[in-house]
Amino acid sequence: MAKSKTIFFCQSCGHESAKWIGKCPSCEEWNTFAEEVIQKASKPEWRQESRYQKVTQPKTLAEINSENAQRDPLPDQELSRVLGGGIVPGSLVLFGGEPGIGKSTLMLQVGLGLNKKVLYVSGEESEQQIKMRAQRLNGTEKSTDTFYTLTETNTANIFNAIEALNPELVIIDSIQTLHSPLLDSAAGSIGQVRHCTAELMKYAKETNTPVFLVGHITKDGSLAGPKVLEHMVDTVLQFEGDRHLVYRILRTTKNRFGSTSEIGIYEMLGNGLREVNNPSEILISQKDGPLSGASIGATMEGNRPLLIEVQSLVSTASYGTPQRTPTGFDQKRLNMLLAVLEKRCGYRMGLQDVFINMAGGIKVEDPAIDLAVCVSVVSSLQEISVSEKAVSLQRLD
Ligand code: TYD
Ligand code: MG
Repeated sequence: MAKSKTIFFCQSCGHESAKWIGKCPSCEEWNTFAEEVIQKASKPEWRQESRYQKVTQPKTLAEINSENAQRDPLPDQELSRVLGGGIVPGSLVLFGGEPGIGKSTLMLQVGLGLNKKVLYVSGEESEQQIKMRAQRLNGTEKSTDTFYTLTETNTANIFNAIEALNPELVIIDSIQTLHSPLLDSAAGSIGQVRHCTAELMKYAKETNTPVFLVGHITKDGSLAGPKVLEHMVDTVLQFEGDRHLVYRILRTTKNRFGSTSEIGIYEMLGNGLREVNNPSEILISQKDGPLSGASIGATMEGNRPLLIEVQSLVSTASYGTPQRTPTGFDQKRLNMLLAVLEKRCGYRMGLQDVFINMAGGIKVEDPAIDLAVCVSVVSSLQEISVSEKAVSLQRLD
């Protein structure tokens, strides 16, 4: 007999409590606790009707087969590099981003491009919609016999399908739509999201099959079903960018199998996402001669150098406190650089509005860009253009 018990979860941060409480001790939100029924099943859900049950034994490091850690390179160079060189067998990857940014498109493109048995589980779109999208990506001729789709949200049915098909890669779009029959709460609630992720994690680790989970991001920028997911998975990928611009940036915020500093850049076209192999081509906009306020700097993202154009507009503040508005750059750092220009270099910034922008919609945190920011601010202030062949470099020691 399966035992069942109820636990109260904070719907905003996932904190558990045996009793209902008004204010969450962890995130300090009010009235966020909801009761959820937890049934303790004796076996993991995905193996409930399974014929075999693997029992793991303690091993020494020498006994562990390191071939497991081999990576399968992907045809998609950008994603491959961001993941640290390819997909690690048995890894669970969370792929987050705002709605409409292109998560489903990228996942479908990866699934179709891979010459392996892929199961794409969608809880959001119908089979016809997936087919239409695949046709748009010109992918239907490529892997018709190795790419399977399933439109299902019940995890019991999904695991049955997985066991029958035995795929080499599973893509779940999205984790917030999954629903386990063992829990009474609604799909997308913290309890469901956490339970379904844990089951998929067990499946991935035991069968050595990589699993990609698509996750939506809430308005405040956190992954919905929030932090609970991030620490359960091996890798967290984020798809960023302005929906109104064509460029999308893929970055990792956590990677158990590689560095988190690599980024991938894509361009959203009418027939899918194009990999941008030379990012400097999009990050530099000066094409028709030099303009004042534009200056080029260099930064490293992972092991790839990027040339980025910093654009500034400095104009006399008409009233009140002057504005400092950076886009893609830290506000406090901009204030500091302006103070340095004022104090050490004698430029009167106190009465100027300063707007700066990183071309291409990229966010830069690397302090190596500081000199380029200063050069571009001074260039705009003095109305002197900087040669488009000049790059501002500085030593960081
Ligand atoms: P989608 O992958 O559905 O976003 P998500 O899964 O992250 O919510 O992306 C949808 C957007 O991408 C939509 O606005 C249309 C656009 N798009 C293109 O511009 N080109 C394409 O080839 C495809 C398939 C979508
Ligand atoms: Mg989608």
